[in-house]
Amino acid sequence: MFGARRLLRVLRSCSCSSAPCPRPKPAAKLSVREALRAQNSNGERVKVQGWIRSVRSQKEVLFLHVNDGSSLESLQVVADSNFDSRELAFGSSVEVYGKLVKSPAKRQNVELKAEKIEVVGNCDLKDFPFKYKERPPLEYLRQFPHLRCRTNALGSILRVRSEATAAIHSFFKDSGFVHIHTPIITSNDCEGAGELFQVEPSSKIKVPEENFFDVPAFLTVSGQLHLEVMSGAFTQVFTFGPTFRAENSQSRRHLAEFYMVEAEISFIESLQDLMQVMEGLFKSATMMVLSNCPEDVELCHKFMAPGQKDRLEHMLKNNFLIISYTEAVEILKQASQNFTFTPEWGVDLHTEHEKYLVKHCGNVPVFVINYPLALKPFYMRDNEDGPQHTVAAVDLLVPGVGELFGGSLREERYHFLEQRLASSGLTEAYQWYLDLRRFGSVPHGGFGMGFERYLQCILGIDNIKDVIPFPRFTHSCLL
Ligand code: 4AD
Ligand code: MG
Repeated sequence: MFGARRLLRVLRSCSCSSAPCPRPKPAAKLSVREALRAQNSNGERVKVQGWIRSVRSQKEVLFLHVNDGSSLESLQVVADSNFDSRELAFGSSVEVYGKLVKSPAKRQNVELKAEKIEVVGNCDLKDFPFKYKERPPLEYLRQFPHLRCRTNALGSILRVRSEATAAIHSFFKDSGFVHIHTPIITSNDCEGAGELFQVEPSSKIKVPEENFFDVPAFLTVSGQLHLEVMSGAFTQVFTFGPTFRAENSQSRRHLAEFYMVEAEISFIESLQDLMQVMEGLFKSATMMVLSNCPEDVELCHKFMAPGQKDRLEHMLKNNFLIISYTEAVEILKQASQNFTFTPEWGVDLHTEHEKYLVKHCGNVPVFVINYPLALKPFYMRDNEDGPQHTVAAVDLLVPGVGELFGGSLREERYHFLEQRLASSGLTEAYQWYLDLRRFGSVPHGGFGMGFERYLQCILGIDNIKDVIPFPRFTHSCLL
């Protein structure tokens, strides 16, 4: 049997020794991004494919801008005016063959001198919802979930989303975390908030039993409990996948399907240690996004969130603050502002409170720690304090969005957890979870970050529906 290293050597040597190809060299296929970055173009023939973003016809030449989604910038194609400009319309898909040459224009390095342009698919301009040079608002684009990705705005947001995904994976990989695929279908309600979507086959005929899985099954609200299982073997684990909540909310920060980044760390004994990882994740992923797709971030900041660049810089260069829930309630009680919900110890913080607290903290993200035990799920570690009984919970509040992360130390002590489960009538369902506290239990903790809220926070996008390709929320599941 081949060892992995030997297999790699064999594969490498195969590709080096392949016989020279006798056929004429076909035009090299380049993405728009690659074409724009080509440094020493020797007039080689290339092929570029994409969608026309603009057409400008002059006496003897035709200028097209072609975009294929690989970058915000389009490639300028210069064609002879003999090409039929009626066919080469805004929105049509084309394949352009030609030579990459240095561009005389200041705005771009290179341009493509077209020899052949093939229209792959025409665009019916009469009904196409976007017009050349228009910059429609995001609310308008939302009506066209099947087409909005072709606009500059959604193009930039979704490329940032892709970069941010990679940056988050990189942060965890570099910090020694193991990536776990936690299940989408589960039989637990981790948060205990009852915001579950139940999963059943659509046809009762195929499975006559009451439940397909014999037990009620749901779309997951969080991968945390499965991650806790894994942290008992791999020490540091993370998951990054879709989570589902049947929240009856149309708010600009809630979705029924959203992505969550979750981490779980064994042998962690303080919230301080956990908060360090949370702050590290936020700052390191953001720095990576800023350095990998500056043009896309800039477009969002410039056209959708003026002033956001400075706000983000302010978040990145300052240490995040820490206050306790009790201090937070005191701050709110002393506020001159009138809140719709009167702040009171023992009651959850509302969005208006979160916004006030962030402002009060100078628009620097703020960790709020040690919440009332009665407000939080069964798994959070008891602080054993009094007279106000709290748990070691932590939420991170950020400007513009409010709650971005939720996390806690977990109750690793068997008898404490047993009591909490018993008082909520959950002992039977969570026997396996109690078991984890019988076989080599360790202090541990973790957190979840809403990925769409993270994108809203760094880009300054007001509505969560604009940072996910296909938003799902109450009364809406388009496509
Ligand atoms: O605070 P939450 O409910 O925490 C948990 O689910 C923990 N089990 C995570 C963990 O410790 N592993 O959710 C985490 C984050 C929130 O802070 C918020 O950013 C986001 O998920 N979130 C939502 N994002 C969009 N739409 C919704 N309906 C959301 N609900 C929560
Ligand atoms: Mg929360």
